[in-house]
Amino acid sequence: MCGIVAGVAQRNVVPILIEGLKRLEYRGYDSAGLAVINGGEIFRKRELGKVKGLEALIAADPIEGRIGIAHTRWATHGKPSTRNAHPHVSKDRVAVVHNGIIENHDHLRAALQENGYVFTSETDTEVIVHKVAEELKAAGNLLDAVGKTVKSLRGAYALGVIDCEQPDVLVACRKGSPLVIGIGIGEYFIASDIAALLPVTQRFIFLEDGDVAELTINGVTIFDEAGRRVVRPVIESQLKADSVDKGKYRHYMLKEIYEQAWAVSETLEGRFIDNRLQDNAFGHNAADVFDQIKSVLILACGTSYHSGLVARYWFEKYARVPCAIEIASEFRYRNPVVAPDTLVVTISQSGETADTLAALQEAKKLGVKHSLVICNAPESSLVRESELVLMTRAGPEIGVASTKAFTTQLVALLMLIIVVGRRFDLSAEKEEHIVSQLFALPGNIEKVLKLDNAIELLSQRFADKHNALFLGRGTHYPIAMEGALKLKEISYIHAEAYPAGELKHGPLALIDAEMPVVTVAPNNNLLEKLKSNIQEVSARGGQLIVFMDEDLAESDAADENVQIVKMPSVANAISPVIYTIPLQLLSYHVAVLKGTDVDQPRNLAKSVTVE
Ligand code: AGP
Repeated sequence: MCGIVAGVAQRNVVPILIEGLKRLEYRGYDSAGLAVINGGEIFRKRELGKVKGLEALIAADPIEGRIGIAHTRWATHGKPSTRNAHPHVSKDRVAVVHNGIIENHDHLRAALQENGYVFTSETDTEVIVHKVAEELKAAGNLLDAVGKTVKSLRGAYALGVIDCEQPDVLVACRKGSPLVIGIGIGEYFIASDIAALLPVTQRFIFLEDGDVAELTINGVTIFDEAGRRVVRPVIESQLKADSVDKGKYRHYMLKEIYEQAWAVSETLEGRFIDNRLQDNAFGHNAADVFDQIKSVLILACGTSYHSGLVARYWFEKYARVPCAIEIASEFRYRNPVVAPDTLVVTISQSGETADTLAALQEAKKLGVKHSLVICNAPESSLVRESELVLMTRAGPEIGVASTKAFTTQLVALLMLIIVVGRRFDLSAEKEEHIVSQLFALPGNIEKVLKLDNAIELLSQRFADKHNALFLGRGTHYPIAMEGALKLKEISYIHAEAYPAGELKHGPLALIDAEMPVVTVAPNNNLLEKLKSNIQEVSARGGQLIVFMDEDLAESDAADENVQIVKMPSVANAISPVIYTIPLQLLSYHVAVLKGTDVDQPRNLAKSVTVE
């Protein structure tokens, strides 16, 4: 993964690059670095850890320049360390930042070493910078040298390259990793994501796979993979620079949990006329597509996969639509059989998840004709590669642990079930019911957020624990999975989710007083079954925390080992959304108690753009 940002301007670019790196930290944050050209020389600073460390280093010993490249890293090849941090430099002349993975780096390294290049890092990236230096011997300019270099690379890359012998030129290129060009007035920038550049521009060019671009203060020239000069469209972004502020909250994650009522309203906004969901909310040709499809295949990763799991239950239950779901990283290598009249639905907060993107491409190769993405990033790769799009409009999600993206995905999926279901077995009454419940969601989310203090108290029970189990049944089994994922990723407590009926087939052996068991127990047709499962745990001394409907009598689950949290009473159609929220809050408070880095937990990155 990693984030890159670079620019050429008529002013010092260092503060712009530092701000850009902070906005890209969601892509990785184990080390950061920056290089500028000044007076014909390269000046480089690198620091282990987050961007603020690099910022402090530069504040203590400033560098400046009108052209520069910068990087925030998520280690793939070579552990996090200063010497593995980017930019990498060759012969004190060329500097490179890279996002992606070079698969043939071993082979290239051996050849370059034979030619006398000395490697100072364990990264795959270092072969690129030496190769550019090598190609510069014959090529007339940096653009040609980079163009030749990328022809020898196998794998994925987005690159920013500078050469102190051409101090006015920044060369950028991409293949398999995202890269945008930001257009200012007499200044041009590149970044992994538009968010990095919003403080300086809202005008962007999205480079296509294989493009190589040359940026100077006079403009941008782009060449496609075949070396032809091309013009790519300029897109005006609607996003604002201040949309990524923490506001009054201590962490982005908490802010994002609290934004969910608003995010759900935004996701519903303008898509209904007289309470009827419009097909064209999914794209102008959506009605034609929906008329043709016979089944649905959902592909996603992580939290987005969990929302898809809930949707599978809904597709079958409400509309009898055949629905399959698979983790994208498995699908892409499984050689699956997919009928051409399947609607492939990808779900992704970032729209840049490499496995999900590759799975979509694989599905297309297998002959699938129609695709739809549910996504939160308007200008992302998945949005650009999908036929139909439903944006979740949750606003930027900065916390690595996904919260509002998940609940808005569930809302978007219910909307999809309505429009597809109409063509199957969804009755007008059921549709009306789902729609009314969707509109009731924001109010119910506000109600459930009022449990925050009670959940904060409860979180103390977890702070000294090493393991936790999450139980659910039906649509709430994926909610238990999501709860377990949240807890493990930000509190580092090992957590697993089980469908409650599966306990007696093995996991019951784990139960003792040290094992908190979180149970999601809404008032539905599986409640009686779930109560028996609760008894099985309690009888073995397990410590249960049960989230259950306020309308149910406490005696339904009462026991000295059972702590009950009463949830607002809501209809089945929206209860997966509502029951997600206390689990998010629980993980958040446990993580705060444990003192972990809530927004940027160890070893992770927000957007997983490598395999
Ligand atoms: C969730 O908290 C995770 N950070 C992660 O599982 C995430 O959902 C997954 O990487 C998929 O990302 P996407 O939605 O951007 O595709």
